[in-house]
Amino acid sequence: MRNTHKNIFLIGFMGSGKTSVSAAMGRLYGKNVIEIDDQIVAREGRSVKQIFEESGEEYFRNCETELLCEITFRSNAIVSCGGGIVLRPQNVELMKENGVIVLLEAEAGTIYGRVKDENVRPILNGNMSVEYIQELKQKRAHTYQHAADLVIRTDRKTIEQVAGEVYESVYRAG
Ligand code: S3P
Repeated sequence: MRNTHKNIFLIGFMGSGKTSVSAAMGRLYGKNVIEIDDQIVAREGRSVKQIFEESGEEYFRNCETELLCEITFRSNAIVSCGGGIVLRPQNVELMKENGVIVLLEAEAGTIYGRVKDENVRPILNGNMSVEYIQELKQKRAHTYQHAADLVIRTDRKTIEQVAGEVYESVYRAG
């Protein structure tokens, strides 16, 4: 019988669709969705932007690691991770031990179109351009590829299409 209770960790650059695809998987397949950024915000009682400004990136990264440690007790969840979660090798280890890591990929132009009107991402504020996104994506590319068990492209696909592809690719193998 197929094991459809494995945790799925969705990783990828900002704007690659992790949040929307996780929500769709919750809706379509009755999965529990854990949105790491939202949990941090709820716990801290302040926005990601405020956390970065007041306590720094390192503090935010500690919050991510803490939450991942707690998720080790969960199963059957779709975990939507912040784009920088893979920057700490310890986080990648925690995800590998507790589920399947799926990388959502998108072109820099697609990402720009999705994030350009928002100001919730401190890393992109003041750097909102296709060129900057391309450059940072390039810098992180190896880390994402290295962490991923599976890669799904999202350009020109609907959220539901991507959700279906993630589900099929993870659970097809059993
Ligand atoms: C970050 C991505 C953001 C959020 C924070 C840092 C990053 O999450 O965790 O702003 O370093 O890539 P999303 O990928 O959900 O935008």
